[in-house]
Amino acid sequence: MSAQHRPSSYKQTFDARAGTYNEATRRYPDARENERKALLDLLDLKPGDRVCDTPAGGGFVADGITRDYGDAVKVVCVEPSAVFSEVIGTRFEVYNAPVEATGLTSGSFNAVASLAGLHHVEDRQPIFSEWQRLLVAGGVVAVADAASGTGTAAFLNSFLDRYTPGGHKGIFFDAGEFTHGLERAGFEEVTEVLTSVPWTFRCVDDMVDFCTRLFDVKAGRCEVATALNDTVGIVSTDSGVALQWELMYARGCSAQ
Ligand SMILES: C[S@@+](CC[C@H](N)C(=O)[O-])C[C@H]1O[C@@H](n2cnc3c(N)ncnc32)[C@H](O)[C@@H]1O
Repeated sequence: MSAQHRPSSYKQTFDARAGTYNEATRRYPDARENERKALLDLLDLKPGDRVCDTPAGGGFVADGITRDYGDAVKVVCVEPSAVFSEVIGTRFEVYNAPVEATGLTSGSFNAVASLAGLHHVEDRQPIFSEWQRLLVAGGVVAVADAASGTGTAAFLNSFLDRYTPGGHKGIFFDAGEFTHGLERAGFEEVTEVLTSVPWTFRCVDDMVDFCTRLFDVKAGRCEVATALNDTVGIVSTDSGVALQWELMYARGCSAQ
């Protein structure tokens, strides 16, 4: 794709990609289950809690919370791209607002959940501060995103950068960055850990189809399969195949 046809901003990129991304999730709702479970395990939600899912995309994390807790936990979604959040419909309250300035009431959430939404943001500090503002004292944030030096990062910024409209120039998380940033925003008891969260499928064909849709890849199935295998790694499992995805997870408590 020539440079003049490339979307110029992340919002254009995500508006353009939202349809295929959400379709991938609709067709393979369990593929990223390990990723979501690892995040929700860090939150340890209780009945009566209010959670902010930000940026929520098509509501993948929000849907997992409702599946696990039903109406006992209230979820509010913040998503900058209205096109991306369109599929959420009326399942959740949705705010199409910047993640660093949501406009939501201070101290109105017990938890903030953020999955795979920060690696296109240069300055994450205002977002960490916004999370601190949104949480009650003792509230918990759980965040996960791609880490520097991993196969996941290599796939996103090499193969994908070449084969997706708009390219992919992720700014990945160095070890210690979540800890430093969350502590600077006022969070306490911050922990972070690089975590293996394999994406699971019945077969390699499904894996390639999912990734092609999720990332709007403009390449042949063989090229996608080879790139996934060479950069991220594919292994066989009892129930099919797994893509060796890994993300940096962090958790922190809002100051009392
Ligand atoms: C990979 S999706 C993740 C969505 C959802 N949390 C999930 O796990 O499916 C990336 C999300 O980050 C948001 N995003 C991308 N770049 C952004 C930026 N610079 N500022 C704020 N949000 C951004 C997109 O709108 C989208 O919701």
